[in-house]
Amino acid sequence: MALRNIVLDTDPQLRKKSREVVEFDAKLGKLLDDMRETMIKADGCGLAAPQIGILRRICVVETGDFFLEMINPKIIKASGSQISAEGCLSVKNRSCLVERPKCITVDYYDRHGKHHVKEVENFPAKACCHEIDHLDGILFYDKEYIDDNKRR
Ligand code: CO
Repeated sequence: MALRNIVLDTDPQLRKKSREVVEFDAKLGKLLDDMRETMIKADGCGLAAPQIGILRRICVVETGDFFLEMINPKIIKASGSQISAEGCLSVKNRSCLVERPKCITVDYYDRHGKHHVKEVENFPAKACCHEIDHLDGILFYDKEYIDDNKRR
């Protein structure tokens, strides 16, 4: 395994749309191992491939005893709402409130190319939404939640 360099939001790569993975080979497994190691070392709870300069639809999420590697993920169902502060390993010194679904159903492939459909709730759901947004060039502060009371 090897640590990868995490790019910051000043890098235009982070605003690009990532392409689907078509080859489920040993190289993909190595990349996923590196992503997990890089995420843990940076003390994050999620990392998407574009954050290490690879424009492919791959992300990892790890929080508490929840761990998920997602390849070509799609959120096929979302319900409820949770509003909480978010930050990002690619964004220094900035956090803001973001509204996310409380429960999602995510359709994805694992490192062996096996298809899965999984329901995810609460904090892990928010983390999955954040990472999947990276694959479309979306950063958390694009979705900043402004409280109605503060808006007036
Ligand atoms: Co992020």
